[in-house]
Amino acid sequence: MLRTPKLVMIPGPTPVVRSIQDQMGRETVAFGDPFFVQDYKEVLADLKELWKCSGEVFVIAGSGTLAMEMAIANITKRGDHVLICSNGFFGDRFIEMCQRKRLNVDVLSAPWGTSVTADDVEKKLVEKKYDVVTVTHVETATGVVAPIEAIGKVVKAHGALYVVDGVAATAGAAQYVDPMGIDVLLSCSQKAFGVAPGLAILWASREAVEKRKSLNPIPESYIDFEKWLPVMHDPSKYWGTPAINLIWALKESLQIIKEEGIVERYARHLRQAAFADGALEAIGFTVAAEKLFRAPTLSVYLYPQDANVDDLQFRKILAEEGAQTAGCLGEYAGKGFRMGHMGNIDKHTLVSAVASVERAAMRCGMNVEPGTGLSVLQQGLVDEH
Ligand SMILES: Cc1ncc(COP(=O)(O)O)c(C=O)c1O
Repeated sequence: MLRTPKLVMIPGPTPVVRSIQDQMGRETVAFGDPFFVQDYKEVLADLKELWKCSGEVFVIAGSGTLAMEMAIANITKRGDHVLICSNGFFGDRFIEMCQRKRLNVDVLSAPWGTSVTADDVEKKLVEKKYDVVTVTHVETATGVVAPIEAIGKVVKAHGALYVVDGVAATAGAAQYVDPMGIDVLLSCSQKAFGVAPGLAILWASREAVEKRKSLNPIPESYIDFEKWLPVMHDPSKYWGTPAINLIWALKESLQIIKEEGIVERYARHLRQAAFADGALEAIGFTVAAEKLFRAPTLSVYLYPQDANVDDLQFRKILAEEGAQTAGCLGEYAGKGFRMGHMGNIDKHTLVSAVASVERAAMRCGMNVEPGTGLSVLQQGLVDEH
C-alpha cells in the first residue's frame, strides 16, 4: 500500500516547516554557550517587542498547561477571588487548577459555539470584586474566539488582573499585551508558532510581576517568576535547563513571523480561516462556532445531520487520505471533527487538506461532487500572493 504523508491538521501541534525542523536537529550545545545565550536573549527581546510587552517574558520547558499553572501560581494567594470566563473545555481547565490552590472560583460560561462578552464580564465585576479574571482567547474545543480586547478594558476598569490563555491563538490571532491591558498572556510552542511541543511561553505585565513580589514566597518552585527572572534577564544564568533546540526552533519561527510581518500574519490567518470554513461548508459541513465568534486559527466542523457519518470511521478515512484531524469534545463529541488552519501552513497545505476532506466525505457516502470545496478554496487563494 502506498504511504501517504500525513498533514498534521489537528489544532496543534501544527506542521513544522523544514527550517524550524533543522533547528531542532542541530547538535545540542552547553546552555552556557555564548552563541546560544545570545540566541535566547534575542528570542526574549523579539517576544517582548512583537507582543508589545513592557513587562517580562518567560520561555521555559513545558506545555500550555504548565503556562496556565504558572500564570495562576504567580498572581494569586489562597482565598483570592477569580472569575473564570469559559467558552468550553479549555476555559474550564482553569477551574480545578484554581480550586486546588484554594481560590474562590466563579465561572462565567457561554453556550458552546459562542463566547462570553465584555458586557457579561462587566455585569459580574459590578456585582463582586475579583482579584483575577481569566479568558481563553481561542477555545480549542469549539473554535470560538473571545473578544479579549473589549474584555480587557472592563477588567482593567475594575482593577483586576487579566489572564489570557493564548495557547490556541498566539502568533495567529492579534494579541498585544500592554495595549490590550493583559497582565498575563500564556502560550506554548506547538500551535501557531509552528514549533514542536515543549516550550511554555508567558508574558507578564509590570503589575503581575509586582503582584508576585508581594506574595513572597509562593509554594511552587519550578514555575516561580522570581526563580526565572534572573535567567530571563541574563540567559547565561541557570535555574532549570533550557530546551536549547526548541529555543533555536522558536528563534526561527520568530524570524519567519518577522519576515511575514506580524500584522499581515494575523490578517492571513483571518483570510485562511474564511477560505477553509467556506470550502468545508461547500462540501456540506457546518461550522460549529457562530459567525461572529469564529476563530482564525482552528474550526470545529460538524457532519451533515442527514448523512449518517460515523465519526471514528470518517476521521480514520480522512487520515488515510492524508490529513490528521482531532475528534470533538464535550457537546460536540462524535458530531464532527476539529481542524487547525494556523501557523506556517501555506497554499499547498490548505489545498491538500481540503482535497483530503473532500475524498473522505465521498468515501463516507456524503453527496459531494469532486472539487466542490476545492473550487471555493481556490477562488480565495488566487488572490493570495
Ligand atoms: C486553549 C488551550 N489552553 C490550554 C491547552 C493546554 O495546552 P497543552 O496541551 O500544551 O498543555 C490547550 C491545548 O490544546 C488549549 O488549546
